[in-house]
Amino acid sequence: MAKARIAVVGAGLMGHGIAQVFALAGHDVTITDAVKASLDSAPSRILANLKDLGDDQSAVERVRACADLDEAVRDADYVVEAVLEDLSLKQDLFRQIETVVRPDTILASNTSVIPITQIMGGLTRRGRALGTHWWNPPYLVPLVEVIGTEWTAPAVVDWTIKLHADAGKTPVHVKKDVPGFVGNRLQHALWRECVALVQNGICDAETVDTVIKASFGRRLAVLGPLENADLVGTDLTLAIHNTVLPDLDRTPGALPYLQELVKAGKLGMKSGEGFRQWTAAEQAALRQRVLQHLRQARERDK
Ligand SMILES: NC(=O)c1ccc[n+]([C@@H]2O[C@H](COP(=O)([O-])OP(=O)(O)OC[C@H]3O[C@@H](n4cnc5c(N)ncnc54)[C@H](O)[C@@H]3O)[C@@H](O)[C@H]2O)c1
Repeated sequence: MAKARIAVVGAGLMGHGIAQVFALAGHDVTITDAVKASLDSAPSRILANLKDLGDDQSAVERVRACADLDEAVRDADYVVEAVLEDLSLKQDLFRQIETVVRPDTILASNTSVIPITQIMGGLTRRGRALGTHWWNPPYLVPLVEVIGTEWTAPAVVDWTIKLHADAGKTPVHVKKDVPGFVGNRLQHALWRECVALVQNGICDAETVDTVIKASFGRRLAVLGPLENADLVGTDLTLAIHNTVLPDLDRTPGALPYLQELVKAGKLGMKSGEGFRQWTAAEQAALRQRVLQHLRQARERDK
């Protein structure tokens, strides 16, 4: 793909990593953020990541930090937004961006779960707008879900998929704009049942995680659930579903157990306790384990 001018709006956890991936792929990237400290630290965070991964450190020279939103996006071929997960913030931002960019500049949101239709519905040219849902950290997790709305032009989806594929990502096309797209629907369907198992006293939180990590979690990276269903046979899958599905949790909202944790200030690692208690050392060890695992997976993929 020819070199593109890319603007990344939001230089937080996701934004700086997305900028890093595009710069490493040879594109010129402008990054902006409303908070000066976030913006100022973006190049050094990118450089540290590149160094850590053994990637070409000169890629950071293709990233330009720019405090002014209009200036950051004005010449862009492609703008991707990674600001806070707040619908009205994202709507206002894209309305502003649309007044500045060319009519054919593609506009993408990295929202985790908000339908793209809600974010982009107020735009004048909705055909060039879509969602691109990356996973954290963007430079280690391959998937990017590319979500079109009913208005998105097919050529815009195609171009965006190629942009990400050429940058070494694994883009997939999500054909309908549903909350949570594909990945987060699957992830949180599982999480709901995990919470229900604890809430209903079937097992404790640690056991839920051990069961997953020591069993089907081991296979998931190489064997998707539908591949697995074909492997064991759809007839066996049907028999299992007939017995198990009627007993699974179907609460149409967040479970009371989770709501109580939040009400009690048990917010997870940031407060030292959530489903489980976490010392600072345990938190650091877990983060290290995840990063190490993702780094090794990236090496294997090479
Ligand atoms: N963290 C994840 O694992 C993850 C994964 C996939 C998608 N997302 C989504 O990506 C988006 C960003 O998440 P994050 O984790 O990087 O958040 P973050 O809090 O790390 O970064 C958000 C950044 O946006 C900036 N910002 C806020 N308002 C702004 C504005 N008006 N203009 C410019 N910058 C502004 C903030 O200063 C901050 O630096 C969210 O929509 C989130 O749901 C997050």
